[in-house]
Amino acid sequence: MEVVIAADPDAAAQVVADVIAHVVRERPAPVLGLATGSSPLGAYRRLIDAHESGTLSFAHASAVLLDEYVGLPADHPEAYRTFIRREFTDRIDLPTERVFGPDVTAADLPDACRRYDRLIADLGGVDVQLLGIGGDGHIGFNEPSSSLASRTRIKTLTDTTRSDNARFFEDDEYDVPRHVVTQGLGTILEARHLLMIATGASKVEPIAQAVEGPLTAMCPASVLQLHPHATVVVDEAAASGLRLADYYREAYTHKPDWQQL
Ligand code: F6R
Repeated sequence: MEVVIAADPDAAAQVVADVIAHVVRERPAPVLGLATGSSPLGAYRRLIDAHESGTLSFAHASAVLLDEYVGLPADHPEAYRTFIRREFTDRIDLPTERVFGPDVTAADLPDACRRYDRLIADLGGVDVQLLGIGGDGHIGFNEPSSSLASRTRIKTLTDTTRSDNARFFEDDEYDVPRHVVTQGLGTILEARHLLMIATGASKVEPIAQAVEGPLTAMCPASVLQLHPHATVVVDEAAASGLRLADYYREAYTHKPDWQQL
């Protein structure tokens, strides 16, 4: 795992946007794994800017979402398919029909989940999977105690997550759906590159646990420790609980020129 400590949230967003832009430029048919929530927004804005300035095209890309709420109307502003279109994909030239998410309206949800895993495989797998981290250490919506080998499936959100996400629902956690469909930890691990972004003081504890704590289902993000190519981009605030922060800074400063993130 590589930890990049950026000076502030803007610098962290730039690091993440640069990695994604590189994949989009290099791969003939890049598959981007997209997260929602607030953490990736700065990176999305930078990628939109690059597109608008004519230096980056997503016309040959596809996108797959990490997760989706169950029970929201499809056009609800906080449905993740709506969110990602509004915040990112409708503002670049990535074809709308190549933005995929789990089908949470299917009568047979377990079958829809299996189909989603198959779809990702049929696309050739995810080139770079962007991740945020929840206050309880979740990635996607894999809450603590999730199997480290899990596949896409329905999950129940913890009260902590519902309360954290109430800010998107006019501060009423009772409006935050209880159920979600999320890529499993095993599904996420199949992406070729895992790229996490976390900024601010609320991420100190989950980042410390995920990066330097034990590999455990109680901190689902610790599963990044199993991945051969995982990058965790944090700002100084989110990095403040990392025991080896100086080492991560040193390693990044002296990274060989030929080595990409
Ligand atoms: C969203 C997702 C979640 C968020 C996490 C952090 O698609 O998968 O794991 O990344 O809840 O949310 P923010 O970024 O809003 O703090």
